[in-house]
Order: sequence, then structure tokens, then C-alpha cells
Amino acid sequence: MGWNAEWASKGARVYVSCTAAAPALGDNAGMNAKPSDTPSRGESPADTTHFGYREVPTAEKQRLVGRVFSSVAGRYDLMNDLMSLGIHRLWKRYFVATSGVRRGDRVLDLAGGTGDIASLLLERVGPEGEIVLGDINGEMLRVGRDRLTDRGQVRGLRYAQMNAEALPFPDGSFDLVTIAFGLRNVTDKQKGLDEMFRVLKPGGRGLVLEFSEVKADWFKPLYDFHSFQVLPRLGRLFAGDADSYQYLAESIRQHPPQEALKAMMAQAGFERCDYRNLSGGICAIHSGHRL
Ligand SMILES: C[S@@+](CC[C@H](N)C(=O)[O-])C[C@H]1O[C@@H](n2cnc3c(N)ncnc32)[C@H](O)[C@@H]1O
Repeated sequence: MGWNAEWASKGARVYVSCTAAAPALGDNAGMNAKPSDTPSRGESPADTTHFGYREVPTAEKQRLVGRVFSSVAGRYDLMNDLMSLGIHRLWKRYFVATSGVRRGDRVLDLAGGTGDIASLLLERVGPEGEIVLGDINGEMLRVGRDRLTDRGQVRGLRYAQMNAEALPFPDGSFDLVTIAFGLRNVTDKQKGLDEMFRVLKPGGRGLVLEFSEVKADWFKPLYDFHSFQVLPRLGRLFAGDADSYQYLAESIRQHPPQEALKAMMAQAGFERCDYRNLSGGICAIHSGHRL
């Protein structure tokens, strides 16, 4: 069975990158449903999770996150540049440059969104390699596919709609699995890490680039001001959506800090787990190996 057929049989919507009439990427089934503001009565804490600072039923988080990214997909890249003054490009370049990716590798870029990481990886794996850009959100994938195709990045790229918590690939499929600014949006992060580990080949590497805990005390008030005062205003002005950028600021604070995430990677089975702070801990790159 070829890869496409195999993935499709496991629940992924698979789209091979091509310049001919591309198939429509799927919608985000159920993601636009209205959330309830409070957990239903009688639910135990285990039935709820955080969505930013709100406690929501676990089953709803995925839809809420889907709504955020469907809302901002068209302005996602512009907003990244505005919010970070372009610094996200340096973080991503460094992430890929230090990933250890080699020519001919098969790589899964999870929560790949509009394709920044996939694009950089593709340059490094060369024509013998392959990059799969996986994301749960059809809108983000559509923007990413159009963007990379317009740049002429077609060969060796595949797009597939999938949930990071249940990857539609057999064990040991990839040399490298990356997830950049995606893990904090995944409802069950441990499951996401377990899946990353499972689909890695022995000798493969898992890498997480994510916002983390700022280390310098003097910087924290400035960072908070930027997060809670500037970001939502930029969101309202340029993406017509303040709430999604309020969620961004809150979700960063809810994400496990450096040591906690390292422990979660070890729990997933990764060995030689380590992390490196970028920009004083605004972001961190976590790495682990499947030996
Ligand atoms: C902040 S964007 C990051 C996009 C890209 N990796 C980048 O660095 O620019 C987060 C992405 O995670 C995706 N995402 C959220 N939850 C997911 C899940 N459970 N499985 C797969 N992708 C998910 C969203 O749809 C969105 O495209």
C-alpha cells in the first residue's frame, strides 16, 4: 500500500502538493461551534482543561483552538511579523539550522500551519527527501499550501490534515518530527509527544519549538505589557480579532515551562532530552532522541 492510501485508511486527509487543480482542503468539522463559557455542572476537574485562562470542557478545546486559527489564517503571517518584529523568522531559521536534518530525510512538521518550517526543511532535505506538513486546520493548510506553491516549493512536499494526538502513520515512519508553536494548542500534550515518539524511526529526533518561561525578572513586566496590552490591540487592528491574540498571550502562560516539558518528553520515551532557551526564554527548543 502506498503512503497516501495508507494514511487515508488511518484517517488523514492527504493532499500531495501539485500545481494542477489542487483538491479542496477539508473544513474543520465542528470547530466553529459556539463554545460554552463554563464547564457543565457535575464535571470533574479531569473533564476540563484550559483554553488560555478559561477552564473549558476537554472535548471543546480543539474546537475553540480551531476557531482561533480559522479566524486568523489569512493574516497569520503578517501578524507574526508585527508581533515579533520579524524575530520569529530568526527563531525558525535557528530551529531548522540546528535540527540535524540531512539530505534525503523524511520529516513530519506537525502543526505546520502556513509552512514556515516546512519551507526551510525542504531546502535541506533536497530532492531525495520528503516533508509532510500536518495540521488539524484546513484553513491554515490551505494558506500554507498556496504560499509554498507560489514560491515554487512543490516537489517533496505533502500536506495532510491530522490531529497531533492521533497521527495516521505507522510506527517508525520519520527521521525527524518537528512541532513549532503548535504543542501549546494541543489538548493532550502528553499524547502529542507520545505520538511524535511513536512515528520516529530508531535514531530519529523529535524537536519542539515553543514559547516558554522568560528567565530575566526585569524583562517580565515588559513582556507582560507586550503580551496583554499590545498583542490584542495589534490583533484588533490588523486581523480584526483581539480575542485570538488574547488567547495567544494566555496560552503561553499555561504552557509547561522548560523543565516540565523536558520531563514530559522523557515520559514519552525520548532519550537525551534537552532544551535551549532563545531570547532569554521567550522561546525554547526542546529535543529528544529515539534510540
Ligand atoms: C501558532 S500556529 C504555528 C504554525 C507554524 N508551525 C509556525 O510556526 O508558524 C499553531 C498551529 O497548530 C495547529 N494545531 C492546533 N492544534 C492542533 C492539533 N491538535 N493537531 C495538529 N495541529 C494543531 C493550528 O491549526 C495552527 O496551524
